[in-house]
Amino acid sequence: GAPVEVDVGGLAPGELRTVEWRGKPVWILHRTPDMLESLKRTDNLVADPGSERPGFTPAYAQNEWRSRKPELFVAVGICTHLGCSPTPHLQGGAQPGLPASWQGGFLCPCHGSSFDLAGRVYRNQPAPDNLEVPPYEYVSDTRLVVG
Ligand code: FES
Repeated sequence: GAPVEVDVGGLAPGELRTVEWRGKPVWILHRTPDMLESLKRTDNLVADPGSERPGFTPAYAQNEWRSRKPELFVAVGICTHLGCSPTPHLQGGAQPGLPASWQGGFLCPCHGSSFDLAGRVYRNQPAPDNLEVPPYEYVSDTRLVVG
């Protein structure tokens, strides 16, 4: 599959855009300061907080945000369990169908795996690993290339 170039200049804080790369959904989420702050609260609740397991996180995303730029999260929107696409529930707080202490993230409709706003899987979920961060790079301040 060919690389996909995306203009993220118009992506508002809190907004998620999905692009297709190699037939897979790739999410680009412009995280707000509050969303970034939520990652500190989920740090000790997720299975692999430092994204140290091989294969899912390129070296440039092995940081507290799992991204090249803190605010822009890029991930393959496919569950690492059996390949369903998790549903974004970006806002934290008590909501129907979500854990009481929901911090914002993604919930897989198939077997209930939950992920934080860096795509890090919570502990004791069916999904064995964090969501994959695809290869990507910035070609300008506002344009990135996936693939
Ligand atoms: Fe996502 Fe099973 S495919 S929890």
